[in-house]
Amino acid sequence: MWLLPSGPDQIWASEPHGPSLGDASNELPRNPLPLRPNELIRHKQNGRPISILTAWDSLSGAIVEQAGADAVLVGDSLAMVALGHATTLPVTLEQMRHHTLAVSRGFQAAPAEQPLLICDLPFLSYQCGAAKAVEAAGLLLKETPAAAVKLEGAEAEVIEVIDRLVRMGIPVMGHLGLTPQSVHRLGYRRQAEDRISQERLLRQAESLESVGCFALVLEHVPAALAGEVRRTLAIPTIGIGAGSDCDGQVRVTADLLGLTPRQPPFSPALVNGQKLFVSALKTWIEDQTGSNINQDNT
Ligand code: KIV
Repeated sequence: MWLLPSGPDQIWASEPHGPSLGDASNELPRNPLPLRPNELIRHKQNGRPISILTAWDSLSGAIVEQAGADAVLVGDSLAMVALGHATTLPVTLEQMRHHTLAVSRGFQAAPAEQPLLICDLPFLSYQCGAAKAVEAAGLLLKETPAAAVKLEGAEAEVIEVIDRLVRMGIPVMGHLGLTPQSVHRLGYRRQAEDRISQERLLRQAESLESVGCFALVLEHVPAALAGEVRRTLAIPTIGIGAGSDCDGQVRVTADLLGLTPRQPPFSPALVNGQKLFVSALKTWIEDQTGSNINQDNT
């Protein structure tokens, strides 16, 4: 069972921490921390919807921070969005570390005002056992400002891994439903369509909460099931293609901005970014090579 820390010794985002030496003249610089993973549970308790957006480099990091996302996920979708792969499988731990650092460099706000930074554990960084997973997640938390990791599934082996990560002090967000790292087994279709698999997913969600996940992504599952999971769990459910009855929503920013060649049906583009940018750049090229070529507009 998840226990929400609430005592006075709990450090919250708004509370600067660091040594208090009594004498103000001797005080060390304060080191406030951004939003803590556990604080998302408070948002659920207060009925405050949570918004999470992905980012893959410093420019996208700056954009989603300025847009006001509560948390920024450096998802392994960057394999497809930023690196041109057909699936999320090829991205490496080193690439996740590299891109998470780049995203964090795009944040402009003071540390306490920055969104919570979460990094996906890539394929094969946690499937080979808890010790390897602790090393992988530990490296991300040690060498980047990420404060939490996300990983997919809830098979017995994954539960064991999450249990170890959480006990080692590493906050974990779970991910059920369409889990892209299992694309070769599950495809990209909607998951948990029948009652048996829905009950299985519900049990898996409870297991993830009981080993200490601070939030759970539900991807491409029936809305009614997502609502059932939301009502069952104390931790927030974060939906993508899971209807509106979730405690929050997550989206792949490149999909919302229409930068990807195709968007999933559950995540339509808000703007045709590809067309907009191509057209702006075409105009610039035409200006340079066309009728304005002799004008001094450099
Ligand atoms: O990798 C990713 O971007 C994700 C989101 C779809 C939740 O896992």
